Amino acid sequence: MSDNTLLEIRGLKKYFDAGRTGLFSGEPRRVHAVDDVSLTLHRGEVIALVGESGCGKSTLGLLLMGLEDPTAGSVLLENRDITHLNDRQRKSLRRKIQMVFQDPYESLNPTQTIGEIVTEPLAVHGIGDAALREERARKALEDAGLKPADTYLPRYPHELSGGQRQRVVIAAALVLEPEIIVADEPDSMLDVSIRAEVINLLAELRATRQIAVIFITHDLGSVGFFADRVAVMYLGRIVEIGDMLDVLENAQHPYTKALLSVIPVPNPRMRHEHIILQGETPNPVNLPGGCRFHPRCPVAVEACKHNDPPLVAVGAAHQAACLFVGVK
Ligand SMILES: Nc1ncnc2c1ncn2[C@@H]1O[C@H](COP(=O)(O)OP(=O)(O)OP(=O)(O)O)[C@@H](O)[C@H]1O
Ligand SMILES: [Mg+2]
Repeated sequence: MSDNTLLEIRGLKKYFDAGRTGLFSGEPRRVHAVDDVSLTLHRGEVIALVGESGCGKSTLGLLLMGLEDPTAGSVLLENRDITHLNDRQRKSLRRKIQMVFQDPYESLNPTQTIGEIVTEPLAVHGIGDAALREERARKALEDAGLKPADTYLPRYPHELSGGQRQRVVIAAALVLEPEIIVADEPDSMLDVSIRAEVINLLAELRATRQIAVIFITHDLGSVGFFADRVAVMYLGRIVEIGDMLDVLENAQHPYTKALLSVIPVPNPRMRHEHIILQGETPNPVNLPGGCRFHPRCPVAVEACKHNDPPLVAVGAAHQAACLFVGVK
């Protein structure tokens, strides 16, 4: 582990129980929400975690927050194993890793003022007195771009725009001075301007506060030039990971290529052919044998039905899990 390592995820798995195959008997069914994920996050680094709905992105975030218990694997924060903690230890951990839901219409309590919302995490953690909490809330609001903070403190969420509400959500995470923000964008989040605002704000916070960010999105196109690295998830696994430019310009996994092919590009001469994924929609209960992407893969061959490819190096800081990569 290098000095620069903030968080290390090793072989993390989360399987949910989903009843049995028959009504009263049969095999237990398990949802393979996160299925053997390893990942290292460096200080102040931004990693975009990309993949379509149901691939396990939010579950991974909840595991990091200690809000779900893993089935297997471990998570180390600053060299300390935080996989299994008691309630008190978990509370102090929550100060360091904050999850921000990118959903300004769901995340705020409509009956609380902005001041109450942003000071509440400090009260929950027993930090400071009323005056200090208000001071910290003011600073967090201003760092989140809501200036001057005094004009926002007495207002209610419904008096703010979607973008301003999203900034309040981020301010409520910032008051605890976290080292990592996990920003989770649900698949339903369609407001492009708010998405862009969140990205700009997180990029600023990384620069001013050296906060590391795991940015969860289904849209590889929104990653832009904001992320240092991109990790692409498919059915609970990371199937490709690398420096942002490497992944965007030199994608190796057929799934990443398909995601990239549908991103609109402004220059018509750069337009490439859309890769339409065939086959059944992914189902984390009945995982296909071999490579889990093979039923939808446009280049799959017989061997892909029988081999589950591990991540292999395809460049200095670039790995992909496909039978066709790495072996030259
Ligand atoms: N508490 C739970 N019990 C059972 N299954 C669950 C539970 N939470 C998540 N799942 C299942 O685990 C899989 C991964 O879900 P997750 O919410 O992590 O996906 P996601 O990548 O965040 O999707 P989205 O982009 O739609 O937010 C899905 O099949 C989901 O139905
Ligand atoms: Mg999700």
